[in-house]
Amino acid sequence: MKAGIVILSTRSSRGEREDLSTPTLIETLSSMGFVVAGSYLIEDSTEKLKNLLIKMVDEDKLDLIITSGGTGLSPLDVTPEGTLMVLDREAKGIAEAIRIHSLKYTPMAMLSRGVAGIRNSSLIINLPGSPRAIKEILEFLHPAIMHALPIIQGKIIE
Ligand code: MTE
Repeated sequence: MKAGIVILSTRSSRGEREDLSTPTLIETLSSMGFVVAGSYLIEDSTEKLKNLLIKMVDEDKLDLIITSGGTGLSPLDVTPEGTLMVLDREAKGIAEAIRIHSLKYTPMAMLSRGVAGIRNSSLIINLPGSPRAIKEILEFLHPAIMHALPIIQGKIIE
């Protein structure tokens, strides 16, 4: 199965901050059995995110796309808006579960506005921007993602 990564960080995209999220995501997704087939670091921009996600789904046909960063409340944080532009259907339970699970680690989890959903046969999930959050959340989501992907792709009719 092929996964893609999109890091949204205006500061990292300008080289002002080291991007530690990409190595964490590559390691975690690889340990879940995914081949990371595309990895991008972009500034916080709905247009850039929208165009990139459309390419990753419609052309590259990735099974799973994880975005990290830009889900919070600052004026620059537009990842949920850019993601919603491309989703055919939201998977609200995934985003709700991420926030509920994350509250165990920090009360700031309620500040993440991340969304999740399906475009064509791809599952797209927004995660917060910290490497710690990526690990905490993906380990928790792992069984649900593995159950969801064949259903999304019509290989299992439930
Ligand atoms: N969720 C988990 N599991 N772990 C975290 O450290 N950080 C929170 C929250 N969710 C966090 C988390 C914080 S501090 C913020 S501001 C929001 O995610 C939004 O983060 P983002 O703007 O980097 O996407």
